[in-house]
Amino acid sequence: MPLHTKSPLDSKHWKALETLSKKDYDLKSLFSSNSHRFKDLSIHSDDFLVDYSKNLIDIEVLDHLLNLAKEAGLDEAINSYFEGDLINQTEGRAVLHTALRASKNNSAQVDGKDVFGDVQEVLSKIKEFADQVNSGERVSFSGDRFTDVVNIGIGGSDLGPQMIVDALAYYQKDIKPHFISNVDGDHVMETLKVLNPKTTLFLIVSKSFTTQETLTNANTVRDWFLKSASQEDVKHNFVAVSTNIKAVENFGIDKDNIFPMYDWVGGRFSLWSAAGLSIAVSLGSKHFQELLEGAEEMDLHFKTTDFKTNIPVILALLGIWYNNFLKAESEAVIPYTQYLQKLAPYLQQASMESNGKSVDRTGQKTTYQTGTLVWGEPGTNSQHAFFQLIHQGTKLIPSDFIGYKIPLHGNKEHHDILMANYFAQTEALMIGKSKEEVTKELQDQGMKENDIQKLLPFKVFEGNKPTTSILMDKLTPKSLGKLVAMYEHKIFVQGVVWNIFSYDQWGVELGKQLAKNTLKDIQSSTIEGSHDASTNALLKHFKA
Ligand code: F6P
Repeated sequence: MPLHTKSPLDSKHWKALETLSKKDYDLKSLFSSNSHRFKDLSIHSDDFLVDYSKNLIDIEVLDHLLNLAKEAGLDEAINSYFEGDLINQTEGRAVLHTALRASKNNSAQVDGKDVFGDVQEVLSKIKEFADQVNSGERVSFSGDRFTDVVNIGIGGSDLGPQMIVDALAYYQKDIKPHFISNVDGDHVMETLKVLNPKTTLFLIVSKSFTTQETLTNANTVRDWFLKSASQEDVKHNFVAVSTNIKAVENFGIDKDNIFPMYDWVGGRFSLWSAAGLSIAVSLGSKHFQELLEGAEEMDLHFKTTDFKTNIPVILALLGIWYNNFLKAESEAVIPYTQYLQKLAPYLQQASMESNGKSVDRTGQKTTYQTGTLVWGEPGTNSQHAFFQLIHQGTKLIPSDFIGYKIPLHGNKEHHDILMANYFAQTEALMIGKSKEEVTKELQDQGMKENDIQKLLPFKVFEGNKPTTSILMDKLTPKSLGKLVAMYEHKIFVQGVVWNIFSYDQWGVELGKQLAKNTLKDIQSSTIEGSHDASTNALLKHFKA
């Protein structure tokens, strides 16, 4: 079934939320007037505790948000999503990354064809390949064992696998992962500098196998490789992951070394497919499997849990409340683990490429806000970078704080300090520091009254800044799979309510075309393309 085309503006709940957004939501008062607030506004699901009580909402707002989702047909939309309906209508495709992690007894149909069997077949191939590389059964052209694996891809063919590999570095096996994405030649050269062609496995990951950056990088890497090996040797050290089998074969990759991707999996949601081969190779197939299991757990939670206690639904609705009613422009994601340093860039693509749309599903321009800006950095580093603006700036920035109870390396002292910061920041953002508290603090330091008055306005913290705390037991492949799937479903829910198509990316396609035309002008003696005056002048300056 296609998704509905109802404008959220027509919902009575949207209108009620508009009225409610004029009210003040003072977190301290909200807590003092409801002794159950934490219990009411937190979700404990297995090893996930999601505390959203420090958000600028009350039960009335929450009820309207939940009803807004119901009215937007979220229930039916979830069914269409999991059942492989062609909900990516502008590209005529299903959106079935959930099928990639669906275990036994699940089947998913695309155009009436069950894809479960195909998925299992590719999964076995991934496992077999990763195991052979790790055991040394599959070796380089030179007979050496592989020591390094390089993923060549961009966007979804890079960000997801790279984020996972980085996040789970603790679980890494013997093969060191590298990622080449940018068409910037310095990126590829800097990476190749440390590699030995005799011990390096290259994975070219491109759903379309037409992406300029990836093909340029792949050609450069192959040329570099051929300085030490023959064309025949390519089949030992190069593997491709793509839907475009013909183009891969033309590149010279052996048929047996091609892993299929599917039309019904969007690039930015493809890390669960063979696009995640670098994950399976560098972390081992067992950890890749656990990652999928974690994601499936979240899929089941999302599919079967009442909206009131449904983690992705609640996170999505909070985002809508801030974006559309309290006029926040961005949201921050602050993981209190260095391992998740690539989470924000990954989420930027997942969220902003999906919901950065301004035309609704009827083809009309939206008159309301859609996708937000997503950004972030790990704590505590971010505390010393941009937290000043969150605490005392003029912008409203709802933030997710992600933390774990158990550190991976067991360094208790560090972990206690890290987590003290995690808790203290959300508390400080909510409580702030009043005039009275600052005055007393300065008096206790022996400061003169006159000086205190001068300094006072700068040292006061308004507080009342919203945060959501996501506290898990431990960073494992499984809990990471769950976390990533949680954000994927949040993106889906928001797209449903906003009445937009979340799974195309025409804006990016335009960039791809424009760069091709401009390249012609850079490489020819004259500038023939029709550019604006500024671009013409810049091109002339560049070519001079
Ligand atoms: O960035 C746009 C995009 O189309 C993404 O959706 C995709 O992940 C990326 O380009 C790479 O595309 P491909 O895997 O086809 O090379």
